[in-house]
Amino acid sequence: MAEAKALQRAEELREAIVFHEHRYYVLNSPLISDGQFDRLVDELHRIEQRFPELVTPDSPTQRVSGEPAERFQKVEHPAPILSLDKATSREDLVAWLARISKLLPEETPALSYTVEPKFDGLTVVLHYRDGLFELGATRGDGRVGEDITTNLRTIPTLPLRIPVDPDGPPAPSYLVVRGEVLILLDDFAALNKRLLSSEKPAFANPRNAAAGSLRQLDSRITAQRPLRLYVYSIVTTGGPLPTTQHEALNYLTTLGFPVAGEFAVFGDLEQVADYCESMVEGRNALPYEADGIVVKLDDLATSAALGAVGGRPRGAVAFKFPAQEAITTLLDVEFSVGRTGVITPTALLDPVPIAGVTVSRASLHNFDAINERDIRIGDRVVVKRAGDVIPYVSGPILDARDGDEVEIVAPTHCPSCGEPVVHPEGETAIYCTNVACPAQLVQKLTYFAGVMEIEGIGERTAIQLVDQDLIHAPVDLYTLTKDNLMELEGFAEKKADNLLAAIAASKAQPFDRVLASLGIRGVGGTVAATLTAAFPSLEALESAPPEAIASVEGLGPITARTIVDWFARPRHQAIVDKLRSAGLNLASAQEPASVQGADPFAGLTFVITGTLSRPRNELKRWITSRGGKVTGSVSTRTDYLVAGENAGSKLTRAQELSVPILSEDDLLQLAGTSG
Ligand code: IVH
Repeated sequence: MAEAKALQRAEELREAIVFHEHRYYVLNSPLISDGQFDRLVDELHRIEQRFPELVTPDSPTQRVSGEPAERFQKVEHPAPILSLDKATSREDLVAWLARISKLLPEETPALSYTVEPKFDGLTVVLHYRDGLFELGATRGDGRVGEDITTNLRTIPTLPLRIPVDPDGPPAPSYLVVRGEVLILLDDFAALNKRLLSSEKPAFANPRNAAAGSLRQLDSRITAQRPLRLYVYSIVTTGGPLPTTQHEALNYLTTLGFPVAGEFAVFGDLEQVADYCESMVEGRNALPYEADGIVVKLDDLATSAALGAVGGRPRGAVAFKFPAQEAITTLLDVEFSVGRTGVITPTALLDPVPIAGVTVSRASLHNFDAINERDIRIGDRVVVKRAGDVIPYVSGPILDARDGDEVEIVAPTHCPSCGEPVVHPEGETAIYCTNVACPAQLVQKLTYFAGVMEIEGIGERTAIQLVDQDLIHAPVDLYTLTKDNLMELEGFAEKKADNLLAAIAASKAQPFDRVLASLGIRGVGGTVAATLTAAFPSLEALESAPPEAIASVEGLGPITARTIVDWFARPRHQAIVDKLRSAGLNLASAQEPASVQGADPFAGLTFVITGTLSRPRNELKRWITSRGGKVTGSVSTRTDYLVAGENAGSKLTRAQELSVPILSEDDLLQLAGTSG
């Protein structure tokens, strides 16, 4: 590619990548699949590798830089980064208004208020010069913070250039904004799951996770953490300022900054107080943790004129939510057995309301946590609840002990099957290693059904199947008969047929799903997809040495060892044999085409749309079995669109991109067959 052409393509790609990042992260409405997005980024990387002189500082490829820093440099803020006065009740809000009303000149117009979530993350201060992100700092002591620019660049929602939309308002020559970096609750749960499955310690809460990630000296680690940014105020600017807070938020939005949609404007303080009180409950519906509501005078000139006292501006106040914790009595401990045999302790509590929800059970994490905190049955304990996260016992109140408390003893035998438990050296968990343990089998079965998308196997049915001795491993589902099912309570003809059909349909699940369904420790959906991309068949994976597995990007030696050990067990070989005889996919569909003609669609990418003569999944399988690939949306990489009746936006898109359009008949012709 000539340099001029490369330059033009790089610019197109950058614009497209920034556009799609913004659609995905900020507007929550992606227009292309993750795969298509990755291909845009890959293409840009390739061009920039070939022509390094074309790399620009705001290129989306420049979010992660090379070497770890030694330490963070200090930066002075252009204006003090103040904190807020607190209110915890309606009365406090009324008192705040009374205090400031006295200071306002008589002619002040009626006040209105902007209310915003008080994000429970880390404050950051971002500097933009001539539209380019130049510097980002922590709050520090409010006067001097630390330069964390390199880490902040890795956050995909942080605009490296403003306006993000080239048609947006022009950026002021200098702009400093303030915002909060945090981790969404769902992402936090997934992050902890990922850490635990690779045997790393989990974070206590999203805030700690965000703080730990932002203060990494190696930004490559930060880049792997799902950090989000919400911007909420303008610290200083060279240009004219919006006159109200809600206009400032709208202006920041049009520049392309991520601004939380959850803000409102009210004309009187009663409404503000109602809103704050309603959010005590309402906060549980937010996708992130908020520890209060920030109430701000909407008129920024009035707010500025009020000034600050003790480092806190008078024009705003933080309504703090009550702590999401309560004190109650630990009545007993229940032990349950998970899919991998881990025995987990659960606290049974004297029911107590926490932020509007009655809590009677809470996690005790594991036996090490119990011992470290010396938690005993009968103790008064502090129970915490954070957003959607399961409540947990954080510790006992030692002063409340009367001597009748009883130590929690780890079970020596499995509470389900009664076999002795095992406590591996160096691990916090204790395990039941009995392969026939019914509690484990029930969990394995529901997990398997979930991954293979077999509807109709919830915990109840799983218990029935295990109790009736019909299932000794999830793969036994494929040899169940209608008679077997009809024996189960609550099963009539229709239900049995439906379940058998769902089981049969699951045989079409791709290889990576089958691999994930096996329940190998550390091999969930993402790892399975990575593995099957590197080892496209079960034979290839089974015969791979641990070093080969460990060298795959995204995997490590522990998972590699677990996988090799799993396949080495005769019992697991028997399972693999059964999967094979059941006809499950034990190889990826897109293996390189060997014989031309047998794979007429090798290397071709199809998109299917509209109503066709057979179910779309069937047609999809028909195409993939001939070496083709089927994706979900039309792009420049699509070779053909197969369109049935009532084709909609995909057809239009294909026409726009001049992607050839095939009828079903055309498709058959292309394959050189008649069906
Ligand atoms: S405005 C001049 N708005 O809460 C006061 N602060 O003590 C500017 N925070 O660490 C603060 N969400 O960074 C404001 N929507 C929001 C906020 C917010 C979180 C943080 C702030 C500071 C603390 C206030």
